[in-house]
Amino acid sequence: MKSVVQVIALLFLSSVTFADTDSASQGEKLYAVYCSQCHGLEGDGFGVNAADMDVLPKDHTDTEEMVSRTDEDLFKAIKHGGKAVGKSILMPNWDGNMTDAEINTLVAYLRELCCAAAD
Ligand code: HEC
Repeated sequence: MKSVVQVIALLFLSSVTFADTDSASQGEKLYAVYCSQCHGLEGDGFGVNAADMDVLPKDHTDTEEMVSRTDEDLFKAIKHGGKAVGKSILMPNWDGNMTDAEINTLVAYLRELCCAAAD
């Protein structure tokens, strides 16, 4: 009986790992959990917290602005927070919560939000 449970657990784990190889949807998930409360579920900067904030969260769908940032800029802003890129400290740093790989996944997702239509 125990081995049947183990096989089922393994099957489950391998399907989860397989789903995670789709970096875009992984980025979308991370964004929904960690970023949407400020940047909005659609990434337009109107999350539930935005109304109370002195500096508005970045509109990640603003193609013109977003193409002026390099991937390194975005990575740095996410990893070390707004202050690291000369922006508001209201943008938190995520280096304590996320691996570099996860941050890279988010950068890829931001590129999708801002610029997929422009490609
Ligand atoms: C507590 C609210 C809050 C949360 C949560 C938050 N942000 Fe921000 N973010 C901001 C604010 C405010 C700014 C704008 C700072 C400015 O313009 O000075 C910002 C700016 C940014 C920028 C810099 C944009 C630029 O102008 O170059 C990036 C990139 C970014 N956020 C990504 C994210 C990602 C990815 C997450 C989730 C991991 C996230 N943010 C979570 C509030 C937040």
